Amino acid sequence: MEVFRSLAPSIVRQIVLEEHAQIRAKMSNLEMLLASKNEEMIVKFSRELFYYFIKHIEHEEQILRPVLKDIDSWGDVRVSRMNKEHQEQRKLLTDMELLLTQNNFAEFNQKLRDFLSDLKIDMEQEEADCLNPDVLKDDPITVGTYTG
Ligand SMILES: [Fe+2]
Ligand SMILES: [Fe+2]
Repeated sequence: MEVFRSLAPSIVRQIVLEEHAQIRAKMSNLEMLLASKNEEMIVKFSRELFYYFIKHIEHEEQILRPVLKDIDSWGDVRVSRMNKEHQEQRKLLTDMELLLTQNNFAEFNQKLRDFLSDLKIDMEQEEADCLNPDVLKDDPITVGTYTG
């Protein structure tokens, strides 16, 4: 939606970081559940995390991608890295969903553990690079135009 193009980079950063905090909370709940071996609850909370996570990457594509693209000369590199990462993450979620429909919990749990540990690293990298405050800096002139 065109309206999101007018969000200041610092606001985009704040929104995405807040979503990361929500994801981390859901991930740590799920990690506790994995230890409990309550398969029904693991599946329930996994699906909730997957649903939220898909919304999150769609949201990043909607509000973060257009800001990153134009903010500095690394825009295209960061955007193509994001596209590739999101493509891999979507693929992984599809694979895990398939395992669930096949009731293959052993393999699902293993993939889920890998997903959770990879996601932690991916979010840290995203925060250090794409969401770095030195990258998502507000342009005082542009911001002034939009706040009026
Ligand atoms: Fe992302
Ligand atoms: Fe993210």
